[in-house]
Amino acid sequence: MVRRRRKPERAVILTPEEVEGMRVAGQFAAGLLDHVARMIEPGLTTAEIDAYVAEETKRRGGRSAPLGYPAGGRHPFPRSCCTSVNQVVCHGIPSEHQVLREGDIINVDVTPVIDGFHGDTSRTFIVGEADPEVRRLVNDTFEAMRRGIAVVRPGAHVGDIGHAIQTFAEARGHGVVRTYAGHGIGKVFHGPPTISHVGDPGTGEVFVPGMTFTVEPMINMGDWRCMTLSDHWTVVTADRSLSAQFEHTVSVTEDGVDILTLSPGATLDLGVG
Ligand code: MF3
Ligand code: CO
Ligand code: CO
Repeated sequence: MVRRRRKPERAVILTPEEVEGMRVAGQFAAGLLDHVARMIEPGLTTAEIDAYVAEETKRRGGRSAPLGYPAGGRHPFPRSCCTSVNQVVCHGIPSEHQVLREGDIINVDVTPVIDGFHGDTSRTFIVGEADPEVRRLVNDTFEAMRRGIAVVRPGAHVGDIGHAIQTFAEARGHGVVRTYAGHGIGKVFHGPPTISHVGDPGTGEVFVPGMTFTVEPMINMGDWRCMTLSDHWTVVTADRSLSAQFEHTVSVTEDGVDILTLSPGATLDLGVG
């Protein structure tokens, strides 16, 4: 996710051929998470998840966009994916010292680059069995993402996504993170427009076919506010409540939306109308 921008710039708009390149990267990214899903169990370290993502991406001839990001920055991200456990909102750094325990929740966020195109997707996994209120947070976060994606079609506005997510998540008693947002994506990792997960209907940029971006709500069991730890990356909830996130990379079609990071065989019911 990207820090919210102030000045609007030209959105990432791709040709149909470029969208197919994005689909290749997106499908590979989805496959990485499908495998990670099968790895998750008590005792696994987040470094082991990172090692799998790093190696499998190299094997495919791609690279991991998080590694060394941003180029030339003062504190480049040191690993190939983000692993955000429990109260960590996003940008958790995989570590051999971090061992998953029964009842934890962990978001794994991958962004392989294949032939220059970025596939950015994340899921929150439950380690073993978790309390009902934890499961409720994770399920609601998935539903928030689903509702955000479902409003995307030519002529709709960026603010419609935030409105759909915010009204649902807040009605369920959760906090919607405002510090980080979805983003345009293509040959760039983080481009315009900023896709806020809060907002008002009918506001912001209008979607046009070929516009390609992420929807990636971070939903807190408590307050929406966050803070960054002294490692310069790990973002935690200010009140240390649990936080969950799901992310897909999507593209606007002639009459709706195409989810480029949906696993082969998986469906995301966007409803009718
Ligand atoms: N994948 C994250 C996103 O959804 C960004 C991670 S940047 C990193 O935009 F440097 F922290 F890896
Ligand atoms: Co993203
Ligand atoms: Co991501």
